[in-house]
Amino acid sequence: MVQLSKRAQNLKTSPTLFLVAKAKELAAQGHDVISLTVGEPDWPTFQIPSRAGIEAIEKNITKYTPANGTVELRKVIAGKVQNEIGQTYSTKEITVASGAKFIIFAALQMLCSPGDEVIIGTPYWVSYPMMVELADGVPHIIECGEMENYKITPEKLEKAINAKTKALLFCSPSNPTSLLYSAEELKALAEVLRKHPQVAIISDDMYNRLVFAGGKVAPHILQVAPDLRERTLVINGGSKAYSMTGWRIGWAAGPERLITAMADYQSQSTGSPSSISQHAAMAAIQGCEPDIEQVVAKLRSRKDSGLNELRSVHGFKVAEPDGAFYFWVDIRAHLGKTHQDKVIRTSKDFCDTLLEKYFVATVPGVECGLDGFMRLSFAVSEDTMKSAVNRMKDFVGQLV
Ligand SMILES: Cc1ncc(COP(=O)(O)O)c(C=O)c1O
Repeated sequence: MVQLSKRAQNLKTSPTLFLVAKAKELAAQGHDVISLTVGEPDWPTFQIPSRAGIEAIEKNITKYTPANGTVELRKVIAGKVQNEIGQTYSTKEITVASGAKFIIFAALQMLCSPGDEVIIGTPYWVSYPMMVELADGVPHIIECGEMENYKITPEKLEKAINAKTKALLFCSPSNPTSLLYSAEELKALAEVLRKHPQVAIISDDMYNRLVFAGGKVAPHILQVAPDLRERTLVINGGSKAYSMTGWRIGWAAGPERLITAMADYQSQSTGSPSSISQHAAMAAIQGCEPDIEQVVAKLRSRKDSGLNELRSVHGFKVAEPDGAFYFWVDIRAHLGKTHQDKVIRTSKDFCDTLLEKYFVATVPGVECGLDGFMRLSFAVSEDTMKSAVNRMKDFVGQLV
């Protein structure tokens, strides 16, 4: 029998992908499943990048590129980062890879030695802790619940930092809460970080253009604390704002030493990201501002109507999203109740029953490190959300 490595034995499947598979299985059995699990836009890739992708194929832009992406794309990314957060990066301070997920993975591989700690607040994006473990690091989880408005506070950050702390990893707006850190909140975190120069800052900005109030771009730590630039990694990609999840383009801007190490790591692992996708991403960044505006307006309207629907469900408490496309729903009022002889003890029990009996797929908060909650994606039509919420009402109505 094949003997797997220790690493393979410790590896867990991405819980969201597992849930997606379970929902598909039920659908294959003929059930009408509504999936609110997926973290991707339901609208197509915009026309400009789609056409650029076709053009790349037709013009034979189909060969290897540098492992860290073409110079042309890195220049365009530098312009975007400059516009959004006011920091200037050279092309040597930017690397492009096959998705932001791999960018985060490569950054952790290049930062962590065995036993190094990476601070992550709850509720977190499901992949962060496992990625830290795969880099032989230790996720240092800070519990941030309702009291902290689900965000890392300066007090909790200060308490968590110790001699082993290598990095702080966070995203704003957040997956799963859709809440963002205000400039004041970032300033307060920066004051703590300033006292600990060994701590790198990994800012996952995947949703920074999908914001509903206060400007086109989410506030950034480097806007309020530009002095932290030399230890901050700014991460983004094409997946969310340009609806390019399948094209697999992500990037990072940061200190040259770290970026060079990540680029070398990419050159020994994935190799260059797709030349076709790079060509498309370049066109997207250059030409899709009006598309982003339209998408934000659409998401804002879905957010407003979905919020109304969900808040009418008995016992649900929902935080109003600042951006992204997730509802973070507090279901604690229902834990401990019984559904047809089954006690609903955890968010996993709640979400499992909702899927198995009412055919609505959601992500239990426990997968994001905080039990008693569930994450719903509102990157679905308003009618779909309405039907899903009606099923939730039926479910909740059966709880005793
Ligand atoms: C918070 C966050 N970061 C990073 C990513 C990675 O995106 P991709 O690998 O598609 O570029 C995602 C995707 O779901 C995400 O939600």
